Amino acid sequence: MPNPPVCSYEGSDYQSSFWDKGGREYEDCVEAIALKRMLPKSGHLLLELGAGAGRNTPRYLGFERIVLLDYSRTQLEQAQARLGKADKYIYVAADVYRLPFIDGLFDAATMIRTLHHMADAPKALGQVKNVLQPGGTFILEFANKLNLKSILRYWLRGQTWSPFTLEPVEFAELNFDFHPKAVFGWLKDLGFTIEKKLAVSHFRVGLFKKIIPTSILVFFDSIFQWTGAWWQLTPSVFVRCRGGWPSAPTRTGGFFKCPECGHAPLEDKMDYLECSSCKRKWGVKDGIYDFREPMR
Ligand SMILES: C[S@@+](CC[C@H](N)C(=O)[O-])C[C@H]1O[C@@H](n2cnc3c(N)ncnc32)[C@H](O)[C@@H]1O
Repeated sequence: MPNPPVCSYEGSDYQSSFWDKGGREYEDCVEAIALKRMLPKSGHLLLELGAGAGRNTPRYLGFERIVLLDYSRTQLEQAQARLGKADKYIYVAADVYRLPFIDGLFDAATMIRTLHHMADAPKALGQVKNVLQPGGTFILEFANKLNLKSILRYWLRGQTWSPFTLEPVEFAELNFDFHPKAVFGWLKDLGFTIEKKLAVSHFRVGLFKKIIPTSILVFFDSIFQWTGAWWQLTPSVFVRCRGGWPSAPTRTGGFFKCPECGHAPLEDKMDYLECSSCKRKWGVKDGIYDFREPMR
């Protein structure tokens, strides 16, 4: 079956228009707090899925190496400009639905503000499971359809879709909100054990952000985040889970695998990686591995 379509950020100024100039200091601060509460203190290799321009990457302090994966090459170029080309960072242009890594490679993975572009969320989460070690940590942020604003809108008849039903709602093309129960169910079905839930961004309301200082909103959100253990009624939910599958997946050697035929290892030819099985070539240009389309 073909993979679902990708929401394109190619050429987008998302980082600057949405974050740097978009009045989202509050959201950025509360997400930083949630991430800090979820992250392991240290680790070897972390996969950041949908890394964008690397807004969160400096927060993965304790990890020796970080793979920034994004479908948009221009987002990765922006990340490179912010973070540099140090060995610590590996930049990979690829589709979450077709990850180019051998099974069980990573001891941790994060996916922040990215699941909401997934038309087939369980399939995307299944890919994460494959590349995580047993016992590895996965930190997922997802957009919550069961948030107080949408419940009120629904009750006041300002919104037709129900926030209470389990199916995702596509509120704009390739933008989905999910019901927490559905996401937790998918994770459990894949063998993840859920360890921690945080309810994040309680005060994502224009009026609050206008009249109340950001530091006060952040302070109260940081306290209320813990209520996520019992209920999740915020627009953003963070969940930390652990790969609970019993035996280690077979490691085929190497790091990358061919996203087309699954063969590993790939042969390093400097400007490209070659799959000795299907003969496809995957480009490497200016420090970015490109697994979106094979070279012609
Ligand atoms: C809303 S941005 C979030 C960026 C970053 N995680 C942050 O929080 O600042 C979503 C990112 O997911 C990427 N993305 C969307 N669909 C993808 C897919 N199928 N495979 C890889 N990346 C994808 C987009 O290119 C974009 O950079």
